[in-house]
Amino acid sequence: MKTVAILGSRNPQGKTANAARAFLEGVQSAGGETAEVYLTHRQIERCRQCEENGWGLCRREGRCIIEDDFAAIVEQIRAADAVAFVTPVYYGDLSESMRAFTDRLRRIGTGPGGKEGLAGKPTVGICVAGGGGGGAPNCCVSLERVLRIIGFDVVDLIPVRRQNQKMKADILRRTGEWFAGLPSSDVES
Ligand SMILES: Cc1cc2nc3c(=O)[nH]c(=O)nc-3n(C[C@H](O)[C@H](O)[C@H](O)COP(=O)(O)O)c2cc1C
Repeated sequence: MKTVAILGSRNPQGKTANAARAFLEGVQSAGGETAEVYLTHRQIERCRQCEENGWGLCRREGRCIIEDDFAAIVEQIRAADAVAFVTPVYYGDLSESMRAFTDRLRRIGTGPGGKEGLAGKPTVGICVAGGGGGGAPNCCVSLERVLRIIGFDVVDLIPVRRQNQKMKADILRRTGEWFAGLPSSDVES
């Protein structure tokens, strides 16, 4: 089972990265393969709302007209068996890079074939509030909303705050282990 983690942090040594790593260690310990994508290290523009009515190629063809790294990351998700979206909590919500990416992913899912390899895919969301520590539950709600619109099978959402990150690291490892061993009967179709 291959799991790709999509990260909305810019810091591979930060709290968000550590949370992702704990989860992926769990996946690996159960025999799963893993990969990480840092959205801020890639070129991801925000949606241009191309046409007058606000729609665009996304609605007609299930793909985005912008020639940046978006399509390659979507293909990486499609090729994986499962995905984790891991974001730092900003203002009690998703980081800008995670917002830009999921906004565009939601759009391609509207057009023909766009949901292929996304809909029904087992997915975990992890939201890390590393400042004051507030806002992780709200960020989970926000993340779940957009992931469900895209059609992912959101099997778990894990809020982490600065004050409980050590304890949550164990939970993330165990969740990763469980996630890698999910029997297909536990997953929506
Ligand atoms: C614009 C901005 C808004 C933030 N809002 C929150 C917040 O609402 N709650 C919180 O606990 N931390 C907040 N933080 C801190 C981040 O959640 C995060 O822990 C910190 O930026 C470290 O990120 P890293 O894990 O990517 O290294 C904010 C940070 C930034 C830059």
